[in-house]
Amino acid sequence: MTYRTVLTETRGRVGIVQLNRPQAMNAFNTAMLTELFDALEVFDKDENIGAIIVTGNEKAFAAGADIKEMAQASPFQMITEARVEIWDRIRGIKKPVIAAVSGWALGGGCEFALSCDMIIASESAKFGQPEITIGVIPGAGGTQRLARLLGKQLAMEMVINNRTLTAAEALHFGLVNRVVPVEGYLDAAVAFAEEIAARAPLAVRMAKDSVNAAFETSLTEGLKAEKRNFYPLFSTEDQKEGMQAFIEKRKADWKGR
Ligand code: HXC
Repeated sequence: MTYRTVLTETRGRVGIVQLNRPQAMNAFNTAMLTELFDALEVFDKDENIGAIIVTGNEKAFAAGADIKEMAQASPFQMITEARVEIWDRIRGIKKPVIAAVSGWALGGGCEFALSCDMIIASESAKFGQPEITIGVIPGAGGTQRLARLLGKQLAMEMVINNRTLTAAEALHFGLVNRVVPVEGYLDAAVAFAEEIAARAPLAVRMAKDSVNAAFETSLTEGLKAEKRNFYPLFSTEDQKEGMQAFIEKRKADWKGR
């Protein structure tokens, strides 16, 4: 697929997808969503890639779904064109996805960042769900993910009363992993992702799946899911190599099998 609304690049084992509609604050129109998920799925299948970054620009990660594209839509169109379901494709990505957020992450932009596995925020990042100000509510998981991450009170305030969080607040509340200076924020995210991309790929995959299970199930079921992911790792070359490398006091050489 030739992309018009996203840019892709690789740095070592890190794949980067940059949202590229700066004239519209990176608002997600259908074209950009389609290209974003295509690019993510291509990197996900590429064995030379160990972690994926999604970023925007300094001023805007993304200002949400494209309001101009949605304004006249009927419920029928929203359903038949799968304009909401398309956002769920992020859940199919097996490799760690890191959002590198600077500036506005609003509406679907905030929701997309929350549906990534980790977030590196620049000092200028601002997170919010302003849908209420245009007569709707979040539709790409904002009410659910914010409630799980922040608890009921703050999630309610964000969704019902358009409370935005600064980068410092987001760090304080555990919404982001790191806050870094605006200058070089993407390089900082790449350094963060490179560390992950250098780890044993199958173990990383199982680790991601296991943590995600915690958001889906009871503790009992979650612990079963963890065990289901733990045992098969003992059939991998990387488990033998990792433990032998520890014993021999050397760095492990991962093969991804
Ligand atoms: C379409 C958008 C847009 C959006 C900005 N633009 N956000 N276009 N959809 N979500 C466009 C503006 O219309 C403008 O185009 C250009 O980008 C620059 O924006 P300005 O508003 O002039 O910039 P600024 O004053 O710096 O304000 C930045 C901003 C503001 C705070 C981010 O643009 C804003 O509030 N945007 C809307 C945020 C929002 O409500 N998001 C939720 C969307 S609903 P022109 O042509 O005038 O230059 C949603 C639901 C998700 O996300 C559900 C998914 C299923």
